[in-house]
Amino acid sequence: MATDTETRVAQVVAALTEPAGKADPYPLYRVLREFGPATQLPDGTLVVSGYRLATALVRDHRLLKRLERTLAAAGFPDWQQRPGLRLVFTSMLVRNPPDHTRLRRLVSGSFTARRVAGLRAAIERISAELIAEMSGSGTVDFVDAFAFPLPVTVIGELLGVPAPDRARFQPLVRTWTAVLDRLDEDTVAAADTAAAEIADYLSDLVVRRRAQPRDDLLSALAAESGPEGGLDDDELVTMAALLFAAGFETTTGLLANGLRALLDHPDQARALRADPDLAVTATEELLRYDSPVQVLTSRTAPEELRIGDRVLPAGQRVITLLGAANRDPEVFDDPDALRLDRAGEPPLSFGGGLHYCLGAPLARLEGQVAFPALLRAFPDLAQAGPAVSRAGLALHGLTKLPVAVGRTH
Ligand code: HEM
Repeated sequence: MATDTETRVAQVVAALTEPAGKADPYPLYRVLREFGPATQLPDGTLVVSGYRLATALVRDHRLLKRLERTLAAAGFPDWQQRPGLRLVFTSMLVRNPPDHTRLRRLVSGSFTARRVAGLRAAIERISAELIAEMSGSGTVDFVDAFAFPLPVTVIGELLGVPAPDRARFQPLVRTWTAVLDRLDEDTVAAADTAAAEIADYLSDLVVRRRAQPRDDLLSALAAESGPEGGLDDDELVTMAALLFAAGFETTTGLLANGLRALLDHPDQARALRADPDLAVTATEELLRYDSPVQVLTSRTAPEELRIGDRVLPAGQRVITLLGAANRDPEVFDDPDALRLDRAGEPPLSFGGGLHYCLGAPLARLEGQVAFPALLRAFPDLAQAGPAVSRAGLALHGLTKLPVAVGRTH
């Protein structure tokens, strides 16, 4: 029998999957917080909303990703046969050591802070080109005009996905990654079609890069793969799909959520416009304020674990609400306020531990370049119509953000 608290928690978590809850989950997180840093669903799943506990849990390497059980419970014991599920749930995002270690090592060198710092000039150039295209256009959809093209160009160049082919991935990736939020037959069937198209395209590209290598990550990975190499052909396509999708979908969320927050807080926008040196703390704060990833893929305790003063029984599943942790009043003073010069703990938006976001330095740099450049180029930039939220909570972003560009500086 579920306790009253468990029933109430289940209601709040269900509300988080409704359109209103996905668009603005923060009032619901406040309700959850009343039950403490973590609370339980009727099926025993631990729902974590406190920053310190969430940090301790994601950093604890004894917790494992055991998504196959969740998939079977949702009615997909055959998930390996479903392209939409297979392409996500065999990727490094949900693998455990030693496979996770092997896969991550193959690509981690391309995303270190040092390597990424070398991309600054390219990011500034792409950002300036997009801003030039936006100039004089009256009202534009910021997602179409900037928030999608900047990150997709950056990750496309890095991986080696040809420019003319990139735009078609936006709807495909959105349809595919919906399985991170919803596991029902319609969602999975649509994801299957999208994922099969993504995988076919990338397999073909791998063949071309293997035959004629270029100076890009896909060529380097293609050279490493095969019977003697560090990854097989299936893993190579899965890796390419993960890097490409993670490289733009989440960063589109950062840019769109972040710009909306700035336009909602003109005093903060003015401060960043006047002082571009605020860009580093501003990007952290925008990541905290409205995180593009709100829910981590679940972790499971393989055996009874003691973490701090908490005991997790064997098989305990843990869901971490990053967006809630980022607004924890015990860690962030006045957490619902946007303060671009906020110092202190980093946001949890990139997760932590073994699966800490591989692309964090890249996403941060894109934000640090883009936000001040946009505000400086367009002194009167303003929202010009209702924003449309992405139909997800795990991936939390906007599909439309109409803005009036105004005067050009
Ligand atoms: C603002 C933008 C971004 C956010 C908020 C974000 C967030 C996250 C989070 C929360 C995780 C951990 C998921 C988990 O543990 O369940 C993650 C993992 C990952 N991210 Fe990002 N990400 C962003 C941008 C990027 C970019 C630009 C790339 C480009 C390559 C990327 C690649 C990855 C990869 C490969 C993983 C899996 C790492 C692993 O399992 O070891 N991300 N990201």
